[in-house]
Amino acid sequence: MSQTEPTPFTWPHGFLWGSATAAAQIEGAGHAGGKEDSIWDAFARVPGTIAGGDDLETAVDHYHRMPADVALMASLGLDSYRFSTSWARVRPGDRAVNQEGLDFYSRLVDELLGAGILPWLTLYHWDLPQALEERGGWANRDTAYRFVDYATDVYAALGDRVTHWTTFNEPFCSSLLGYGSGVHAPGHQDGRAAIAAVHHQHLAHGLAVNALRSAGAQNLGITLNLTNAVPRDATDPADVEAARRLDSLANRIFLDPLLRGAYPEDTLRDLEPFGLAEVIHSDDLEIIAAPLDFLGVNHYHDDLVSGHADASAGDSHAGGAARSVGSPWIGSEYITFPSRGLPRTAMDWEVNPDGLRLLLVRLGTEYDRLPPLYVTENGAAYDDVVSADGAVHDAERTEYIVAHINKAGEAIAAGADVRGYFVWSLLDNFEWSYGYEKRFGIIRVDYDTLERTVKDSGRMFAEHLRAARAG
Ligand code: NOJ
Repeated sequence: MSQTEPTPFTWPHGFLWGSATAAAQIEGAGHAGGKEDSIWDAFARVPGTIAGGDDLETAVDHYHRMPADVALMASLGLDSYRFSTSWARVRPGDRAVNQEGLDFYSRLVDELLGAGILPWLTLYHWDLPQALEERGGWANRDTAYRFVDYATDVYAALGDRVTHWTTFNEPFCSSLLGYGSGVHAPGHQDGRAAIAAVHHQHLAHGLAVNALRSAGAQNLGITLNLTNAVPRDATDPADVEAARRLDSLANRIFLDPLLRGAYPEDTLRDLEPFGLAEVIHSDDLEIIAAPLDFLGVNHYHDDLVSGHADASAGDSHAGGAARSVGSPWIGSEYITFPSRGLPRTAMDWEVNPDGLRLLLVRLGTEYDRLPPLYVTENGAAYDDVVSADGAVHDAERTEYIVAHINKAGEAIAAGADVRGYFVWSLLDNFEWSYGYEKRFGIIRVDYDTLERTVKDSGRMFAEHLRAARAG
């Protein structure tokens, strides 16, 4: 039976309900207001990288429509809005601060606070200034120090009003997909560069946490995309080994340095040919393991994996496009993703809400130093249809969100310390290498007129928030 009503549950006091976006995906004004190229602007100019040849120049024009977008958030009753600042707007070309860029974020923060919405700021959601990429990007250790300069500038401008700071969003993507499989900007297929990027982003995170904490920040965290790596056959050694490899490269290579101050031994061993040990300097891990106030978890789907090359192709943790241009599973050519016949979203990602419960509970049992968790992204792309009444009756997305919210509740009931849920995404937007073709919004954007229409899923989310607050 399909479920479109959340199961009654008493959410913890102060549980935060919000929605998320990212600068590059919504702002537009790609070269306005002093902004210069990010790696995504440059990547989008390379033929064949983005579906439909789409670019980020206008996106959904949030830069010019920000007050109206905040009014929409307020109409939904959001507690919090998770957004990112664009490094290429704040320090174009990574030179001096662009005051006009900072002013935009300052206005956004004021608008949010005026509407009673808590700003939840992410400093890096994948849009490195292209000028830094030309100096080696994340494969160059120096980029970590440049990140701290940028983070400090943003904190100096907004730290009096923004209380929640996230350093990185999904470093898996901005390292392994950007420098390994090449499906994300800057589009390199170089295993050593990808592994160096992982470590340098960790270092940038730790340095920034320390710098912002010294400057007075109190709520500092990072957002990771984590998965449950489930072997197709738990008695088949090749499938179990594939699950170990996936868990190492998608989860533990990020979680362990942050929460335990060490890379896992098996990860170090697997990545020896890709030079992981060589890029680690003596004090790095102590810096990287700086205490965190929260861990953001982005979760969309699980991964059933096999170690057999002939397992039927199915789900992809990295997005379907990764298959055609090389794998982000550095040194693990035999991780395959068989299908288990579950329903799938328009991203071809399987729908398995119980995976969210499992993940949230599992983290608490596996990591002693786990800070409070926030689901910082969860949601689904479907091929929406505008009905004759002008509405979008997106029953599948509604069902997906409801089912996952219920599972977050079950995780809390089972003891997980989960303090918030942000639906991805507020608006339809630029879905990276898929361009504008994949729609994740709870608000539709008409790409001809840029008009916004709240979908049924948005209405459901607003009603759910009201009910959850009423207890
Ligand atoms: C993860 C990313 O943070 C976000 O930018 C992306 O659009 C969603 N997942 C959906 O793929």
